[in-house]
Amino acid sequence: MIKNVLITGGAGYIGSHISEILVKNKKKNIIVDNLSTGFKKLIHKKAKFIKANILDIKKINLIINKNNIDSIIHLAAVLSVGESQKNPKKYERINVKGTKNLLIAMKNTNVRNFVFSSTCAVYSDGLKKVSENSILKPTSVYGKTKLKGENLIKNFCKKNKINFGILRFFNVAGASDTGKIGQINKGDQLFKNLSLETEKKNPIFKIYGTDYKTKDGTCIRDYIHVSDISELHFKVLKKIDKTKKSKILNCGYSKGISVKEVINEFKKYCNKNLKILEHPRRSGDMVSIISNNNRLFRFIKWKPKYNKLSLIVKSCLKWEKALSGK
Ligand SMILES: NC(=O)c1ccc[n+]([C@@H]2O[C@H](COP(=O)([O-])OP(=O)(O)OC[C@H]3O[C@@H](n4cnc5c(N)ncnc54)[C@H](O)[C@@H]3O)[C@@H](O)[C@H]2O)c1
Repeated sequence: MIKNVLITGGAGYIGSHISEILVKNKKKNIIVDNLSTGFKKLIHKKAKFIKANILDIKKINLIINKNNIDSIIHLAAVLSVGESQKNPKKYERINVKGTKNLLIAMKNTNVRNFVFSSTCAVYSDGLKKVSENSILKPTSVYGKTKLKGENLIKNFCKKNKINFGILRFFNVAGASDTGKIGQINKGDQLFKNLSLETEKKNPIFKIYGTDYKTKDGTCIRDYIHVSDISELHFKVLKKIDKTKKSKILNCGYSKGISVKEVINEFKKYCNKNLKILEHPRRSGDMVSIISNNNRLFRFIKWKPKYNKLSLIVKSCLKWEKALSGK
């Protein structure tokens, strides 16, 4: 039975949603986060928070032993594609060395399950739909460092007989129904930036690249609601623990949505004249990425609750209003 779960990056956007689900399922969860992009206010009252850096092997090892951790959900990372192109060293240090140090800190402890937040950015660009066996050829430095993290985890866990789940998230958006948690950081997140803009009196939105070979010239992504992806973590964790199997799994709805389609959905609900500025393409951006999620559905019983664009957009707008105190 899973009892004590450590979440690295649990004060962040996705980590706080996973923590909420663990609490709901009466699992003890310990959050390790250095608050570099995380927020204390996102931490669940019933979770135990320890401010620490995943690079600090000694401290993390102590935390694992003291709290008798049996499972780790590793989310702590830096994740802006644009920033990774400009500052690759930072991405190597936190995403690669940080993951390596966390694994070293786990050695000779009672940890038997490890779930890692990887990304669709590990795949080659330009493929129609990607399955877990598709070509791995990251376009960005961010994607490259997450792929290196995957390989470190696979090797370490196989050697040390630890069950692992590598979850390749597609693009995450939305906010919890509870209204208490959601995305605070801007980054280069389309939904976040649109939500922020539509709160303004005269909203202006920049599209980077309108000349791609796609249905309307803009990039295509497979968006998944944060509450669905968080529930997936708990389900996969339980399943790898029960079956002692390790899996790499695509986590998306298998539905491609363009930037313009997202903008049009926002327009429906914000009742404002959203001015669009067309900008050149950005370095590191993939043209199109959509998941084949068959393996995920074969591995766990799961029914997505929020796989409608309108539900994601409405939840983003609701969260942004709450955040701005309106
Ligand atoms: N948001 C997405 O669309 C998306 C898509 C694919 C994969 N992912 C992955 O999901 C994970 C979580 O992403 P998020 O959107 O919640 O981002 P986030 O920035 O909100 O969360 C990351 C958390 O990690 C913490 N952190 C960073 N470096 C740390 C360090 N050295 N030590 C301890 N804590 C540290 C931050 O303070 C933050 O709370 C990341 O690993 C990311 O690569 C996210």
